[in-house]
Amino acid sequence: MGYFGAGEEPRFDSDLFPKQGLDEKAVMDGLEAFEKKDLDRIVGHSIVYGVQLMSHMDAARIAKQANMMFVRNNMLYKELQPGTLRMSVEVKRMIKEMLGHPDSARVRLTSGGSESLYCAINAAYQWFRQERPRAREPEIVVPYSIHGSISKWCHYTGIRLKRVQLGDDYRADVAAMDRAITKDTFFIAGSAPCWPYGLYDDIEGLARGAEKHGIWMHVDACLGGFLAPFIEKAGRRLPARDFRVPGVRSISADLHKYGYACKPLSSISFRTEEWARYHDFTASDWPDGPYSTEAIMGSTTAGSVASAWAVMKFLGEDGYVELAKRCLEVRRRYIEGINSVDGVKCWETDLTPLVFQVPEGMDIFAVIGGLFERKVYCLPGFQPPLIKILVDPVTDEVVDRFVDSLREVVPLVERGEITIESVRPYL
Ligand SMILES: Cc1ncc(COP(=O)(O)O)c(C=O)c1O
Repeated sequence: MGYFGAGEEPRFDSDLFPKQGLDEKAVMDGLEAFEKKDLDRIVGHSIVYGVQLMSHMDAARIAKQANMMFVRNNMLYKELQPGTLRMSVEVKRMIKEMLGHPDSARVRLTSGGSESLYCAINAAYQWFRQERPRAREPEIVVPYSIHGSISKWCHYTGIRLKRVQLGDDYRADVAAMDRAITKDTFFIAGSAPCWPYGLYDDIEGLARGAEKHGIWMHVDACLGGFLAPFIEKAGRRLPARDFRVPGVRSISADLHKYGYACKPLSSISFRTEEWARYHDFTASDWPDGPYSTEAIMGSTTAGSVASAWAVMKFLGEDGYVELAKRCLEVRRRYIEGINSVDGVKCWETDLTPLVFQVPEGMDIFAVIGGLFERKVYCLPGFQPPLIKILVDPVTDEVVDRFVDSLREVVPLVERGEITIESVRPYL
């Protein structure tokens, strides 16, 4: 990640790769030693492991079992495995139902949010190349707060990226985005919600702009995609964000976040077959004939797909609604607790993550380090300095431990008893 320090300089035994294989016990002992070095699943929940099903351990266990059962099956050859093929088709069908997609929508499975975003940009790029072959330097226009993986893809592909400054409310500035669009722009996107602040962009406003300019509009719902529909079923309204908004051509939503599937698994949905066709590709200019894949990756495991199938079936709609209610309760408890700490203020984010500010001038890394020291983990944000936690369906104990530790750490940092130097080993 970078800001958590360089870590220890590894020193290796000369016989790291053994000449003769070890016995099973020795291998498992080796792995257990690695596992012991890592954070345990409870204290490391939102920073290391992502969304955690701590209030529904049965679902977590079933997901893991399903993953193990199919982990060796290659999705690349699903056509040779009628069971795996049927399972993946059923997962895609359930995704459509869960996300409320129209029948015309087409879903593809990917290895994660980043790959889903790459697929969206690529489909738009292919469409634009066909539509406007004369465009000189194809570019995309996105809000400053959109996920960093978009910068990575543009770096890899040479597509020009314009990140547009946000409005005063830290959401996409629709008018500024509109002004940034040129005849070379083929793609704009908004987040639902964004990772830095947990805020929804004005998807309707952005999509209207995309329609006006005749360009591709993508919604990055990687984070909240599988949480939002069930939050609404639990009775809380959220901003418009899906294919009900005219002009939206694709949506990314991660199953390995609030779909509660094992990593790596996400989805990219296209509004129609026509838009999906710009994504699909078959290579035939090589010795082995037609070669096509679901998304960008070649071989991928069917284990995560099996885990999605298992969790969807096990939880059903009622189970997802229950977990969404739990997220709302966890969120309420965090906000109440964090705001009760002197000088600390939670932002009014829309869903997840939750972000809060520490007293003005206080070094967030001293606070985060003090929390790490107490085995309470969170993430930093930089503009402005913020501390971030995911709202996942954890137990009350996790929330209370976080809040109690924060209450202890903030005054210690204030009095200079915790400093960036003293917590350096934890960062
Ligand atoms: C809004 C958003 N988009 C995209 C991503 C990238 O997802 P992944 O890490 O699965 O590639 C994330 C990850 O947190 C995210 O929050």
